[in-house]
Amino acid sequence: MNAPVMQGLDTVYDLKLGTPSYVKNAKLIAWVADMAALCKPAAIHWCDGSQAEYDALCQQLVEAGTFKKLNPAKRPGSFLAWSDPSDVARVEDRTYICSAKKEDAGSTNNWAAPAEMRAKLQGGANERGLFDGCMKGRTMYVVPFSMGPLGSDIAHIGIELSDSPYVAVNMRIMTRMGKAVYDVIGVEGDFVPCVHTVGAPLQAGQQDVSWPCNKTKYIVHYPETREIWSYGSGYGGNALLGKKCFALRIASTMGRDQGWLAEHMLILGVTNPQGKKYHVAAAFPSACGKTNFAMLIPPAGFDGWKVTTIGDDIAWIKPQADGTLRAINPEAGYFGVAPGTNTLTNPNCMASLDRDVIYTNVALTDDGDVWWEGMGDAPAHAIDWQGKDWTPAIAKETGVDGKPRLAAHPNARFTVAATNNPALDSAWDDAKGVKIDAFLFGGRRSTTVPLVTEARNWTEGVYMAATMGSETTAAAFGAQGVVRRDPFAMLPFMGYNMSDYFQHWLNLGAKLSASGAALPKIFTTNWFRKGEDGKFVWPGYGENMRVLKWMIDRIEGQAAGVEHILGVSPKYEELNWTGLNFTQEQFTNVTSIDKAAWVAELKLHEELFTQLAYHLPAELTATKATLEQRLAA
Ligand code: OXD
Ligand code: MN
Repeated sequence: MNAPVMQGLDTVYDLKLGTPSYVKNAKLIAWVADMAALCKPAAIHWCDGSQAEYDALCQQLVEAGTFKKLNPAKRPGSFLAWSDPSDVARVEDRTYICSAKKEDAGSTNNWAAPAEMRAKLQGGANERGLFDGCMKGRTMYVVPFSMGPLGSDIAHIGIELSDSPYVAVNMRIMTRMGKAVYDVIGVEGDFVPCVHTVGAPLQAGQQDVSWPCNKTKYIVHYPETREIWSYGSGYGGNALLGKKCFALRIASTMGRDQGWLAEHMLILGVTNPQGKKYHVAAAFPSACGKTNFAMLIPPAGFDGWKVTTIGDDIAWIKPQADGTLRAINPEAGYFGVAPGTNTLTNPNCMASLDRDVIYTNVALTDDGDVWWEGMGDAPAHAIDWQGKDWTPAIAKETGVDGKPRLAAHPNARFTVAATNNPALDSAWDDAKGVKIDAFLFGGRRSTTVPLVTEARNWTEGVYMAATMGSETTAAAFGAQGVVRRDPFAMLPFMGYNMSDYFQHWLNLGAKLSASGAALPKIFTTNWFRKGEDGKFVWPGYGENMRVLKWMIDRIEGQAAGVEHILGVSPKYEELNWTGLNFTQEQFTNVTSIDKAAWVAELKLHEELFTQLAYHLPAELTATKATLEQRLAA
């Protein structure tokens, strides 16, 4: 079938769609034709997801200078990409939720009227849209993907059109991508349409750059029509549209409408020495150790305990008829932060990174391997993520504010298949998902928030998650280390009004309770409290198992804990300390509740609630009032 001949603003466009015979979906074929007519690529490539296709695209990226092939003796099957220095993180200020009504996007999201945004992106009566001709000189890749095990009733299908082969190969690792997806949607099945362009059309004869992108960026979601349009960035969550755009922003609105949850959560399995298994879903803001926690290796003193990974970033959770919650990981790979990852902080992750990895913005060593800060001994010489010579001495000389110049960007990433993970859970790809026994919410706070607290009930848990604060990291553009409220670790990923989302959680709890099932327990954690010396007090990483076990003990009714203003926390002697020298004094340091700090903290909750006043559930205001009374008592 040929795309219709379209009169664009300056060209007549006529391109063979080349639809493969196995693609039968009428909506898909018509949409690809429309998008080709708008974006005007030079060619269309329907991805089949095969290894041969992946290899050919990687080779093409090597020839274009986007990928460097790493030394096969050191990192077989692996590549390194360096992005444009301006395109290194999610762009929250350029991310829009274009719901029909502004109040449905809520005060935490950028909003624009859908018609206005469509005119800007697709063109209007007097306006040429940014997408008009945006793919000129490039190939449009049609990337079919399933978020979740193919055919699972918790999974959903998306199709991404992108002019970036980097996106196509990353999507093959991050999702179940390929031909089988067309069988799932058949002739009439639905999918979420996702259009992505780097926004750098090529004129005839113009030389391409290794990382094309555009200064102008738009990451746009239309929740009512469930569409995603992304312009100008080639990086991570801005461009791999299955991840934050679909699996969180669009999926959260699908969950609101259909009664399920799309969460910024890892999912892990934890098995005790008797073979009894629990599943925990845990939300942390970006770059706060979700991948490390999901791949945790129990320390000394935990013989017979095992932690296995179902997912490291996103969970889709559906209530079942029996009142339980079952969860899947919609992704099939990890797009993790490299700096700080090493054989001590995350040995399973390091083992996952041995082969078949796409690295972005880490340093290249002289022997064709990769290096990042916190990986281990620095190389004597490397090429940094901006392609410049780097040695420890140069780093010192050219550093800023007394800090050495970094060889890897702080948001440098690895893309790797889940199947590379030695701790992968046997049920990670199970279409039924796994039963969730506990939720955990954790922020990065140097002060105030105790190591672990269990909410006394569902509403108190929702309150704790809703009012969570965290210090910002390099995963998004903007100042780092500033405390901001990050409800449910979803602030950058909410597809609708945050207060309606709180209500959705409360309604779900009420619905599950009504069915007579025991609700999952809700905990908050903070691994990041610092002492007067400015150093972290809690050792973190594998040692977090000690806290995880206490949570399991609470589920089993085997730990009394101590009740306090905020909820229930462990007594010192309730944690297993075998193999770790952690004193009662240090424990007090990370668990103490400073009343004055909490009075100040509640003022920040008040500020948040004022911002979220529209539709804020009364239960949350009442929970805050109770907390205030307890503090005043
Ligand atoms: C991520 C993020 O990439 O949260 O997972 O920024
Ligand atoms: Mn994330």
